Amino acid sequence: MEKKWWHSSVVYQIYPRSFKDSNNDGIGDINGIIEKLDYLKELGIDVIWLSPVYKSPNDDNGYDISDYCDIMDEFGTMDDMDRLLDEGNKRGIKIVMDLVVNHTSDEHKWFIEAKKSKNNEYRDYYIWRDGFNDKEPNDLDSIFSGSAWELDKETNQYYLHLFSKKQPDLNWENPKVRTEVYKMMNYWIDKGIGGFRMDVIDLIGKLPDNKITANGPKLHEYIQEMNRESLKDKDLLTVGETWGATPEIGKMYSNQARNELSMIFQFEHIMLDQEGEEKWDLKPLNLLDLKRALSKWQTALGDEGWNSLFWNNHDLPRIVSRWGNDKEYRVKSAKMLATLLHGMKGTPYIYQGEELGMTNVKFNSIKDYNDIESLNMYKERIAKGYKHEEIMESIYAKGRDNARTPIQWDDSEYGGFSNSKPWIDINENYKYINAKNCLEDKNSIFYHYKKLIEIRRNNETIVYGDYNLLCEEDNNIFAYTRKLNDDTILVVCNFYENEAKFNYEYGFEDLEILLSNYSDSSTNLRNLKLRPYEAIMYRVK
Ligand code: NOJ
Repeated sequence: MEKKWWHSSVVYQIYPRSFKDSNNDGIGDINGIIEKLDYLKELGIDVIWLSPVYKSPNDDNGYDISDYCDIMDEFGTMDDMDRLLDEGNKRGIKIVMDLVVNHTSDEHKWFIEAKKSKNNEYRDYYIWRDGFNDKEPNDLDSIFSGSAWELDKETNQYYLHLFSKKQPDLNWENPKVRTEVYKMMNYWIDKGIGGFRMDVIDLIGKLPDNKITANGPKLHEYIQEMNRESLKDKDLLTVGETWGATPEIGKMYSNQARNELSMIFQFEHIMLDQEGEEKWDLKPLNLLDLKRALSKWQTALGDEGWNSLFWNNHDLPRIVSRWGNDKEYRVKSAKMLATLLHGMKGTPYIYQGEELGMTNVKFNSIKDYNDIESLNMYKERIAKGYKHEEIMESIYAKGRDNARTPIQWDDSEYGGFSNSKPWIDINENYKYINAKNCLEDKNSIFYHYKKLIEIRRNNETIVYGDYNLLCEEDNNIFAYTRKLNDDTILVVCNFYENEAKFNYEYGFEDLEILLSNYSDSSTNLRNLKLRPYEAIMYRVK
């Protein structure tokens, strides 16, 4: 495997609407991001994944794009964007743009044209079908509830929308669509961006008539074409959002020899606390399942692919509330989860606020929620007879707004995010969970992340070392080694709040602690008892 700059990088994801508001309209913006670049530099990250900043009517907060080459008014102007790229470059921070090309907004000029008539030259940019027996063409569901087909009354045909009805799916079988997309990508590449995060890229090869959505037959052909037309020889970081990938599929995307993407962002571990396919049907996490899922991806790709490492993004609940402890052990458990993940092989992603140990939120009323996925699900489940309380439990646990409350910069009103009431309420714990407090405390979660990033930067073993899971069947401890040549790093984490004994009988006599979330962790593995959420990273000497 050829070594690449993004193998040893750490990515920080920004959801601009909630990051920092510079003009006090209650909505985060690009100038707000520029204000905080020094904060990110201090953290030590190399890359920003910027969730969409393009023109959008915001049905799905920017994931419904009406102009790929213009900036959303609330977020600023193209000049601001150019300045962000410049200011990032000055600090050695690259900007990876979100590429949302499975669908556009219904307010994109292509769709406005396409709707005009069956003969319009843009008609075939989207996926239209006649109804079947005066109903939808088939029973494909939208990921945001209801049918994936919407009738356009004027032309009496249905169009496909795998997300909201304001997000019509592009027809990738049409070569003109593909050419337009590559042209747009080249426009951004020429501006000097660091790469693309590709939104639900696994859906572009869909065959809706056969009800195949993910991993369609032409998916990889399209990505290879995209690579030839846009990405090749540009040394970019490209990461595909690939929900349903297996390691075999992961290799197809990210094996360097295949000329597709740099890495995959797959969700097997993220789906372990749900019943079946349905994220809203909750079940407790089993640690052994988590070990199996993460370890499988650590070893299965070998030299033929590359992982992303993440607990969080703008679609997922806050990890410290989900699998840590957001009460008494918030700081300890946040650091444990960080250590566990950042010791692994792959490119780590930190989602804004994760480095502060930000938590899930519980708003009193469904009216306080903004996310279209949660709101649609709420309506659908109420109609099906579910109880309000039961639905709210799902939203508290899994709703995407958990990740979208404003970043808590300090303890002033609105948490230093803005001087005006934010577009979505701030989590009321901003009084004590905030960046100002973290920066003033050398033992904070922030500095723990900073150290993890430094350790990665200074240790090739963390970047390229082989992964080996220890104590596979232990119900409390997640431990593994990373080995490169004669260097070994050992990571031992107590996943829970009860004390747990590390039953590892052999080897590792002479240990040095690289990082721990306790100030007095032991270097003696014999009879090692780990305290609540204790997480230690050792170098084996
Ligand atoms: C995945 C994105 O991460 C999510 O936020 C969005 O709603 C859907 N794709 C549709 O673009």
